[in-house]
Amino acid sequence: NAPILRRLTELRALTTTWHRHGEIIGVVPTMGALHQGHLSLVEAAKAGTDRVIVTIFVNPKQFNNPEDLVNYPRTEHEDAQKLAPYGVDAIYVPDPQEVYPQGFATTVSVAGLTNVMEGEFRPGHFDGVATVVAKLFLQTQADRAYFGEKDYQQLMTVRRMARDLDIPIEVVGCPTIRETSGLAMSSRNLRLSPQGLEVAANKYRIMTNLALALKQGAAFEALAPQAESDLLAAGFTQVEYIQLRCAETLEPLTHVTQRPARLFAAAWADGVRLIDNIAV
Ligand code: PAJ
Repeated sequence: NAPILRRLTELRALTTTWHRHGEIIGVVPTMGALHQGHLSLVEAAKAGTDRVIVTIFVNPKQFNNPEDLVNYPRTEHEDAQKLAPYGVDAIYVPDPQEVYPQGFATTVSVAGLTNVMEGEFRPGHFDGVATVVAKLFLQTQADRAYFGEKDYQQLMTVRRMARDLDIPIEVVGCPTIRETSGLAMSSRNLRLSPQGLEVAANKYRIMTNLALALKQGAAFEALAPQAESDLLAAGFTQVEYIQLRCAETLEPLTHVTQRPARLFAAAWADGVRLIDNIAV
């Protein structure tokens, strides 16, 4: 079983040795409550690197909603068991003071990409993500980092941050893993009741139908209101946004022609905020 490391000095001792031997290090940053989506990133990291570190840290700085932070599932023991068959080289579960020592005063903030969608509805969220991910990149000294397209705006933000700060790491994006119902796997799904799960499963279907209509040439503005009312009719209590954006710059699009487009949605079901996105 992989060692669980809680101190930066222990982690650095390992990574320094690995790099001295010319080994390529991969990192999979997570907040735990691991599911098949996380494990698919671990598989990609195992296939693409010589040494794999999984990090587990529930980062208080990225939670704009204090209730969400308190309710976030914490399942370290089960997480370690789920990782056992993958043969990862280390599980880094930093003590909070290893990430935010007394007097910590620095924020990493990515402009532009973070002004819309999740950035608009979760103030401060991406500053918290960019700050902790910059730290995890530097602490692990990884050569490659694996992120899910499930959090597409996060993936783009983290990639921008690493480029802008000259952190020598390649950010690899991996496809979203879904339940057979189409529901994107998420640690927050654990908080859905059986009825909530049924409601939540409708989102992928509604987004896929919208994507199909867009591909046939329809204008996004003409179809978005129907998709929103479909979500509400399916039992979602609130739709925060449905948007069509360029997959590279996240600029808004009216039609899916010419540019690689992605459809994004955030909505509440059963008291849980759920996000998803698909390529169009
Ligand atoms: P967390 O939500 O635990 O997700 C960790 C990684 O798993 C992210 O890259 C996320 O996109 C990916 N992931 C989650 N669900 C997925 C799914 N269904 N399919 C594929 N990948 C999936 O995202 C975070 O943690 C945090 O913001 C973090 C980056 C760790 C910084 O604190």
